[in-house]
Amino acid sequence: MMEDKYLVEVKNLQQHFPVAGGKLLEKKVVKAVDDVSFGIRKGETLGLVGESGCGKTTTGRTLLRLHEPTGGKIFFDGADITKVNMLPYRRKMQIVFQDPYASLDPRMTVGDIVGEAIDIHRLAANKKERQERIISVLSTVGLNSEHSNRYPHEFSGGQRQRVGIARALAVNPQFIVCDEPVSALDVSIQAQVVNMFEKLQEELGLTYLFIAHDLSIVKHISNRIGVMYLGKLVELADSLELIFHSVHPYTKSLISAIPIADPGISRKSKRIVLEGDVPSPVNPPSGCHFRTRCPYADELCAAQEPEWKEVSSRHYAACHHLDKVN
Ligand SMILES: Nc1ncnc2c1ncn2[C@@H]1O[C@H](COP(=O)(O)OP(=O)(O)OP(=O)(O)O)[C@@H](O)[C@H]1O
Ligand SMILES: [Mg+2]
Repeated sequence: MMEDKYLVEVKNLQQHFPVAGGKLLEKKVVKAVDDVSFGIRKGETLGLVGESGCGKTTTGRTLLRLHEPTGGKIFFDGADITKVNMLPYRRKMQIVFQDPYASLDPRMTVGDIVGEAIDIHRLAANKKERQERIISVLSTVGLNSEHSNRYPHEFSGGQRQRVGIARALAVNPQFIVCDEPVSALDVSIQAQVVNMFEKLQEELGLTYLFIAHDLSIVKHISNRIGVMYLGKLVELADSLELIFHSVHPYTKSLISAIPIADPGISRKSKRIVLEGDVPSPVNPPSGCHFRTRCPYADELCAAQEPEWKEVSSRHYAACHHLDKVN
């Protein structure tokens, strides 16, 4: 069997944050990311979905080592980068943030926001080269040289996110964590910005981890999709396989939630509507984290954590009752 060659890979990634409020000397933690494994091939997009607080952002930030991982390993282009000095990798691995209003310094011009990254990594030999590079990267995202002297507040949400993308692109990265890059934008311009991510990927050969709340946004852009619930991946498969042949009850419930008018979504499978909210990650349910909201849960689910296993080729899931559910 040929081994998968990944540009980015995490194995058993963990991110546990200490939380205040426990009893004296009792160390409470939020298991924001708990034993998550996946790989992303060069030029591909892995979509990562799940409800608020399930650990998507923490997964993205930890794999960039913006948080030091509590456990597990991170690989970039075959190299173990879990413990190395990240400076040479910062250039190759970038992030675009969810909120283009909060993530751009209001006191800096757009030119300086983009130029800063060029300076940090010494990618321009002189002022002229720096300016040319700024203009060129702005034009890549559909902005022009005039925009470079303006401040973020002078731009619309969509344009600001273009600036955020330009900042990431300025250092010629190979990989970008796109952390809900369109969810703060007007619905009317979300598609535009998603299309731009796709076009950039094609032109520049980029690899993405594309984070979103719901499947409708990632299903077009992603080659593969991972579904998270309370710090854990519950299912991971090629996009079409995940949409049409999901096996995990949580994924099925997310698919049930996609508006029916959305073409290309199968309604053959049983509709699963979840009740209640995601429990606190400080105190997750024993066994399977999903069991408190799962219509199929029984004693086994409370007693034992389900194993993460390959259910068919390149399709992974963690559930005790796949036979009952499917
Ligand atoms: N720096 C931190 N310190 C402590 N707890 C944190 C920290 N960052 C995140 N958490 C907690 O970790 C859990 C996962 O948060 P995270 O932001 O990764 O979720 P998310 O899936 O990105 O949610 P959203 O969809 O709302 O962006 C949450 O319970 C959150 O409160
Ligand atoms: Mg988030």
